[in-house]
Amino acid sequence: MDRRRFLKVCTAVAFAPFMLGRSFGAESFKPYKKALLLREDGKPLRPEDIDPSKEYIFFYPYRSTPCLLIDLGKKVGPVEVKLKNGTSYLWRGGVGPKGSVVAFSAICTHQLSFPKKEYSLINYYPEGKVSKLVGRDKVIQCCAHMSAFDPERGGKVIEGPAPSPLTAIVLSYEDGKFYALGTSGEEVFEDFFDAYRSELRKVYGSTRIAKELVDSCVVLEMEKYTEEVVRC
Ligand code: FES
Repeated sequence: MDRRRFLKVCTAVAFAPFMLGRSFGAESFKPYKKALLLREDGKPLRPEDIDPSKEYIFFYPYRSTPCLLIDLGKKVGPVEVKLKNGTSYLWRGGVGPKGSVVAFSAICTHQLSFPKKEYSLINYYPEGKVSKLVGRDKVIQCCAHMSAFDPERGGKVIEGPAPSPLTAIVLSYEDGKFYALGTSGEEVFEDFFDAYRSELRKVYGSTRIAKELVDSCVVLEMEKYTEEVVRC
């Protein structure tokens, strides 16, 4: 292959994902602002700050949209995840030194239950905390109407009325720091903004502010964020 043709091929390969838009190959990625994950003291979150026996909350890609951060303790993914519309995509899996840190939107895909300051009905059941619904640990469960999701398998539904997997938050791990980059799979953010418009206005002052995209996220232990972690 001559040099000019070789460069043409390289350029086509490099730009193919962008030309194809949101889905490329078997992957699915919607980019948002690149956001550095921070500890409560404002320093970058490090792997040793994430306790596998706990669940953490941060808000991404919007100021008001909650996500769960979990260290599953072992490498997970990539895994094929089926979506409500019958298609599937390749979830990239965990990041960090062990490939074990994952994040999902904490807005239930059934009827949009999400962690509030007063209580959280959607939570992670770490190792040793067995969900009665599915008889195992390491699940994310929504007690609003009993749906369970598998964080080791891209947030797929393992029980209950939820019609689709949790939206995956795409993370990266660079030079010892974690970043959120975007989402994979189906999103329910617009439904969430519609359903909770008046509640969000009360908390954030306006819907516009609630919908602001973030470029850094403070990661909190769920138990510090909410008054009652409801596990059922
Ligand atoms: S809102 Fe989560 S199961 Fe219904």
